[in-house]
Amino acid sequence: HLQHEPGGQALRIPGRDGLMAEQSLSKALHLVARVDSFALFPGEPTALWCYAGEVDGRTLANPVLRAVHGETIDVTLDNRLQEATTIHWHGLSLDEASDGSGLHPVAVGTGARYRFRIRNRAGLYWYHAHPHSRTGMQVQHGLAGVLLVDDEEELALRESLGLRWGERDIPLMIADKQIDQNNAIAYKLDADDWIGNRVLVNWTPEPYLDVVPGWYRFRMANVANARMFRPAFIYDGQPLPMQLIGTDGGLLAQSWPIDDFFLGPAQRVDILLDFSALVPGARVTLCSLEYVAMENDNDDTVTFQPDPMADHPGAEPMGNRLDMMELRVVPPVQPIQKTHVPQQLARLDPTPDTTGWPVRHFRLRTDQDGRWFINDWNFHINGHESVFAVKRGTREVWEIRNYMTSMPHPIHLHGFQFRVVSRSISPPDIRARMVTAEGLGPQDLGVADTVVIWPGEIVRIAIDFAQPFTGTQRYMFHCHNLEHEDKGMMVMFAVTD
Ligand code: C2O
Ligand code: CU
Repeated sequence: HLQHEPGGQALRIPGRDGLMAEQSLSKALHLVARVDSFALFPGEPTALWCYAGEVDGRTLANPVLRAVHGETIDVTLDNRLQEATTIHWHGLSLDEASDGSGLHPVAVGTGARYRFRIRNRAGLYWYHAHPHSRTGMQVQHGLAGVLLVDDEEELALRESLGLRWGERDIPLMIADKQIDQNNAIAYKLDADDWIGNRVLVNWTPEPYLDVVPGWYRFRMANVANARMFRPAFIYDGQPLPMQLIGTDGGLLAQSWPIDDFFLGPAQRVDILLDFSALVPGARVTLCSLEYVAMENDNDDTVTFQPDPMADHPGAEPMGNRLDMMELRVVPPVQPIQKTHVPQQLARLDPTPDTTGWPVRHFRLRTDQDGRWFINDWNFHINGHESVFAVKRGTREVWEIRNYMTSMPHPIHLHGFQFRVVSRSISPPDIRARMVTAEGLGPQDLGVADTVVIWPGEIVRIAIDFAQPFTGTQRYMFHCHNLEHEDKGMMVMFAVTD
């Protein structure tokens, strides 16, 4: 249980030097994976595994990278750790060699070059280590950062919102860590769901942020190993209303009012909040609310029924309330620019009508030895074969069923983004958010690369396998609870002509 009150240290925001240093990818960038010490907590420094660089006399550590849609980025990595690593570009559409999965490990003392075109829409993406069986350990020790992609549509929106990046448009990279008495990050290989005792936002433990009475935009990324967050901004005991404007793969077509939301490992959201009614001196707490998930007594033989009104079998509490960050309203130094939230945020196709698309079925399950499976596949058993092939240029529905486990799984697919098509029989906290007859909530209406499948739920996603590459390209499909992934809840599929 966490007993730390937020408010001790100022939030790190994208800056010039050190952790969260900001760096554009319009020029080639050289990063070194190594262990460095940082003063994260009062007292002893903390050893972090990081992607470090030197650019124009500045030191970068897990930098906030920036790129523009259409540009070709060129990042080289030198591995000076004691074990193989990679850089995986989470959410980006790229070829197998650039993807940085464990298929292309970078051995100790060697290097790799990631050179690819940014084909994705604007949005907040992220990068992290992805060596087979050791992703959880390396990410927990620090090998992760965010990547902001911009495009014209995004820049036009930013203009109309009048919220400058780094000032009132701020990334929040949230993770929990196990911190021992010596301020060291603890991790045990082969552990289950690694849950921390401290929350770091932008590498700052339970920070505070001074805000002026105006609008703010927060791009939140859950970079925790296993913890699901349910963020809300609490003022005077009540959640402040937010506007959800984007998800993993960028802007929604329109904004949606929300009070809180679920953020599974690897997921991102883009939200707007208005503090104008608050007076200087007011305090708002960003917390993660407690939540319940269904007890899973579903019969695995039940077939898909998009029936959001079906009775849920029962609820069990999951996740405790945590206070993650304090926002302190301060008087503005300059007059605050007006914010206009346009009716249409971005061009985005509606959820596709998938009638007639071929459907592939996946079942999530576990066994007595604590191994995790997708169908009968476990990466440690059949990791070196692709378990299925997909024809490039085709479109498929993947139906993912979580009837045999009692926890939510954040399911992620490399190389391709997707759209959520339907959810069946969701737990009550999820059902309360439904805005379509197919059981979707506002967060399901955007472009996704990671989707949470709640216990007792069947989720269908639509994937368009068009890509400009040739030959066989192999990608991972896995649970982004990193302990599940490392225990083999991952399969490899091949995209072929
Ligand atoms: Cu964010 Cu396969 O990873
Ligand atoms: Cu899982």
